[in-house]
Amino acid sequence: MPRVQVGIVGAGPAGLLLAHLLAGEGLEVAVLEARSREYLEQSPHRIRAGVLEWGSKEILAQAGLGQRMLAQGLEHRGVYLAFDGALHRLDFPALTEGQSIWVYGQQYLVQDLIRLYLEKGHTIHFEHEVVGLEALEAEPTLVYRTPQGATERLVCEFVVGADGSHSLLRSQIPGAQVHQKTYPFAWLGILAQARPAAEELIYASHPRGFALFSMRSPSIARNYLQVPVDERLEDWPDARIWEELNRRLEGVAQVEPGPLLEKSLTPLRSMVVTPMQHGRFFLMGDAAHIVPPTGAKGMNLALCDAVLLYRAFKAYYQQKDPGPLEAYTPEALRHVWQAELFSYFMTTLLHTPADPFDDGLRQAHLRHLGQSPHLQRFLAENYVGLHTSGRYVGVLRAPVRG
Ligand code: PHB
Repeated sequence: MPRVQVGIVGAGPAGLLLAHLLAGEGLEVAVLEARSREYLEQSPHRIRAGVLEWGSKEILAQAGLGQRMLAQGLEHRGVYLAFDGALHRLDFPALTEGQSIWVYGQQYLVQDLIRLYLEKGHTIHFEHEVVGLEALEAEPTLVYRTPQGATERLVCEFVVGADGSHSLLRSQIPGAQVHQKTYPFAWLGILAQARPAAEELIYASHPRGFALFSMRSPSIARNYLQVPVDERLEDWPDARIWEELNRRLEGVAQVEPGPLLEKSLTPLRSMVVTPMQHGRFFLMGDAAHIVPPTGAKGMNLALCDAVLLYRAFKAYYQQKDPGPLEAYTPEALRHVWQAELFSYFMTTLLHTPADPFDDGLRQAHLRHLGQSPHLQRFLAENYVGLHTSGRYVGVLRAPVRG
């Protein structure tokens, strides 16, 4: 039976970054991914993230993976909040220690990570669906189906489950607790061939509901509307979406409708699995935790997990120190809960609730934030990721062999 040191299940941002970093240290890595390369690179039917924290951008650049991101991504030095019919800009460098964020679509990052990994001569086993994990206590063995339909096995010294929000491997941690929260709304998201509403993101609070105006490029807009959880996409013809987006932007900006490239509904939820490990098995990314998209933290958290596990495997294989692997869960939970806190904060701050009392509190909070540099600093520090990916910027400063 074939054997590797680290078997990684899932070729999303977390799995691919970890694979790059470990392979760069000369470890034997296998990446198994259920989907095809084309699906991962385009994923036209799924909402994908688009904001990289300052630390995530630094980590990718330090790992030698950031060339296209730096050339084609958009640096944003602030965001706008819109409420009470006015725009309020948060100036990130002024409110932090000079940090900003990068707008760069997850699909583009995944394309880059795949291409660079293959260019280095490594392999990604696309269309290899993991269907089980055996002998976890002794010799962890991944059971997978090949594209030809055969069932095969791979023995690993360690297994990493980076298999996304619908993770099959999540259930492999005996006694794991799943802490979760659902919110009474969903996001109707569109990707459109249209000029973005502004040069930076607008988070708009409106009595009719929250709306977010983001982008993928100066000619591709990415916009979202708060809708009830039981909303149906069929009830939202394109014209109604544009009309509603503009109503929620009244008095601050307007968007020109353009052809829709994609339309989707996503319920908002938070989830944390703990512990994130059992014996020789580790979970990371969406398999281990989910955040509502309001704080733009999901992809960044996945990258944090990858860097942390990289450092832990490096200590194990190069210094024979199992300590960092053993401490993976409590370490990771620090950035995970920080992002859960911020995502919850942004979600409750910006979405219009049904209860008028809750809405009164929410509006007081928003107005306070508009006037208080202290609250603005809380938002800015979290948005640029000082306490999430910012914690790991030093890890790769020592040159990564590639
Ligand atoms: C996006 O561009 O898709 C996006 C941006 C900011 C968010 C969520 C999503 O908070």
